[in-house]
Amino acid sequence: MAERDVILEVKNLKQYFRMNRHFTVKAVDDISFKVYRGETFGIVGESGSGKSTTGRSVIKLYEPTAGHVIFEGKEITGKIAEETRKMLRTRLQMIFQDPMASLNPRKTVMNIIAQGLDIHKLYKTQEERENRVYEMLETVGLSREHAHRYPHEFSGGQRQRIGIARALIMSPSFVIADEAISALDVSIQAQIVNILKKLQKDRDLTYIFIAHDLSMVRYISDRIAVMHQGKIVEMGSSDAIYKSPVHPYTKALLSAVPHPNPGVERYRKRIYYDPATVNYNEGRYHTIKGDHVVLATDGEYENWMK
Ligand SMILES: Nc1ncnc2c1ncn2[C@@H]1O[C@H](COP(=O)(O)OP(=O)(O)OP(=O)(O)O)[C@@H](O)[C@H]1O
Ligand SMILES: [Mg+2]
Repeated sequence: MAERDVILEVKNLKQYFRMNRHFTVKAVDDISFKVYRGETFGIVGESGSGKSTTGRSVIKLYEPTAGHVIFEGKEITGKIAEETRKMLRTRLQMIFQDPMASLNPRKTVMNIIAQGLDIHKLYKTQEERENRVYEMLETVGLSREHAHRYPHEFSGGQRQRIGIARALIMSPSFVIADEAISALDVSIQAQIVNILKKLQKDRDLTYIFIAHDLSMVRYISDRIAVMHQGKIVEMGSSDAIYKSPVHPYTKALLSAVPHPNPGVERYRKRIYYDPATVNYNEGRYHTIKGDHVVLATDGEYENWMK
């Protein structure tokens, strides 16, 4: 098999927030992963596990406490050349978790979506600018009439589409979708997923798809990292994570997903997870099979594999 093309590599990333002299939040605590070109990499975990912080660190909203981020072969941690910064601002886009908070309420949808084009002067005429916004609105299933309205006039699903349009108008190669569908009705979730999937095919996009549960992620991701307390506790193909989970936290997350078949759903048992029973700090990554890995001490690994 040919070497797969790595578009993003995160190496030993730490993102700590110092709250005061006595207390530091270890939002992301030494995580490493690779994302291959054209794939969807899922990150799942409960609230506060460090998923958004991971995404925000990758797009350089934060300077990491330690570690490296390498995007398209370029180290982007620390001080970077203006040219690299420009490349990043277009090639790498994030769809933010909370569309209401991330869309400026005083701006029209036209100005919100065109913002990246404006900053980087990516058009020659006003007409070209408008046409690109109209085209993008149609791509995400809105219409050109929507361009002259304000964010509060839209439903949650529509606002999410505006966020997607704003990210995609830059023709990125890599998109981090942070809970892009979590707040939406199931039927609308499917619509947004279909839009993202189609765009991925048409434009050869790579995604990091962040969510707090496994119900949708497992269908759209090629590989999944399960995060808990700032650590990646298990990582592998969607199939491996779904069919042969090893970490008790992954098993607990999976047990929370309702089964579509009512006959099976009736017998679903929730598994609860007590983090006090697992020693993250002494753990190392054990390879289960291929690229399926789990964070565990030797003793824990032996136990879980029984
Ligand atoms: N800017 C910040 N300053 C201080 N603490 C922060 C900051 N951003 C995140 N945190 C803390 O870091 C931890 C991880 O937060 P993060 O938002 O990455 O979690 P998440 O997995 O995205 O959760 P959710 O599912 O709720 O979105 C939390 O304890 C959070 O309170
Ligand atoms: Mg988050």
